[in-house]
Amino acid sequence: MKLIGPFKQVITLANLPLRGKLSDEQLEVIVDGGIIVDNNNIDQVGNFECLKSENQNIEIEHIPDEQIVLPAFVDSHTHICFGGNRANDFAMRNAGKTYLEIAESGGGIWSSVQHTRNSSEEELLKTLLERINILISIGITTIEIKSGYGLDLENELKMLRIIKKAQSQTLATLVPTCLSAHLKPRDFEGDNKAYLDYILADILPIVKKENLASRVDIFIEKSAFQPEESKEFLFKTKDLGFEITVHADQFTAGSSRIAVEVGAKSADHLEATVDSDIEFLAKSDTVATALPGASLGLGEKFTPARKLLDAGAILAIASDWNPGSAPMGNLLTQASILATYEKLSTAEVLAGMTFRSAYALGLEDRGRLEGGMKADFVTYKTDNFQNVLYNQGTLKAENTYINGQKA
Ligand code: NIG
Ligand code: FE
Repeated sequence: MKLIGPFKQVITLANLPLRGKLSDEQLEVIVDGGIIVDNNNIDQVGNFECLKSENQNIEIEHIPDEQIVLPAFVDSHTHICFGGNRANDFAMRNAGKTYLEIAESGGGIWSSVQHTRNSSEEELLKTLLERINILISIGITTIEIKSGYGLDLENELKMLRIIKKAQSQTLATLVPTCLSAHLKPRDFEGDNKAYLDYILADILPIVKKENLASRVDIFIEKSAFQPEESKEFLFKTKDLGFEITVHADQFTAGSSRIAVEVGAKSADHLEATVDSDIEFLAKSDTVATALPGASLGLGEKFTPARKLLDAGAILAIASDWNPGSAPMGNLLTQASILATYEKLSTAEVLAGMTFRSAYALGLEDRGRLEGGMKADFVTYKTDNFQNVLYNQGTLKAENTYINGQKA
């Protein structure tokens, strides 16, 4: 057991509801607080001096200067295992080229697939770990990571095995997701249905057997997989025992409805979601995940986060860090910008990056600072927690703690 503190402010996020809008008055801010950590978990949170006097001989990890502490962040949607880079796509898009023109000139998802297939396992592992360490340095300790740049048995397994290997070399929690249904690869002989059947018959059984992922994702969109074939595929993946998440309503409305109908843990993107589907999502347990990094990367509109929260949805905010549509990889910058455009309270933004995004991953043991929770948190040298979003990602984290230890 040890007592960490004193902190100028401890923002616990305790007692906040899982769904719907939040006001900043609902935030619990413990002034001059401390955290008692026992093994990997939080034992108690409270006033530092009280905790100290109630626990006479406890070891103390003294926090110098004025710092505040927040629960560590959970990035519930990333594609950070990839080879190559798509800077040329970015430049072409900004110069007015269309999606088709970029794909025809060798860009798009297919180009990342080729680079990823051609990268050695060592190189992919090295760059993946570098990205994980960047995320840890900005306070993110739980990271969902998708496959989806392999798109055949050999290369999808290669990606998922590398993610598993990365887990053995980092203290962050990695949550792998099989996104073999990102796109039908150009070298697959057969239609979409045949490719989805191939995933079901050839890829997922091995993913299951080797315990490489317990979640399956699909990109439902005009340019990728169509609603009906996707729905059928998702019901079958469910029968195989996988949890589901969906790339939904990015450019075309309708697929968030499918996510809800199949009981997905989350529907992510939602930039094009229409009002009636917002209501449908809000009445479900499917988390609505905004990905402002993709809006910023593509110059598209933001997910209607305000409307989703007002309707009572569970809103998460994730980075979507990937080489194509969301190259930035800084969740704090992205969430701060989403807040200014969508008029989100600080409480709503912090909840969206912590216990609400954790819920999307089925991890209800983290994202709040209270007894029994995993001792993952992030500290900043500042006297006011509002400065974290106010600085739009430029206020550097002082320390990220994982399991009660500085990472
Ligand atoms: O979430 N929308 C589809 N998939 C990714 C983009 C991946 C890529 O462009 O490489 C996304 O934005
Ligand atoms: Fe994505």
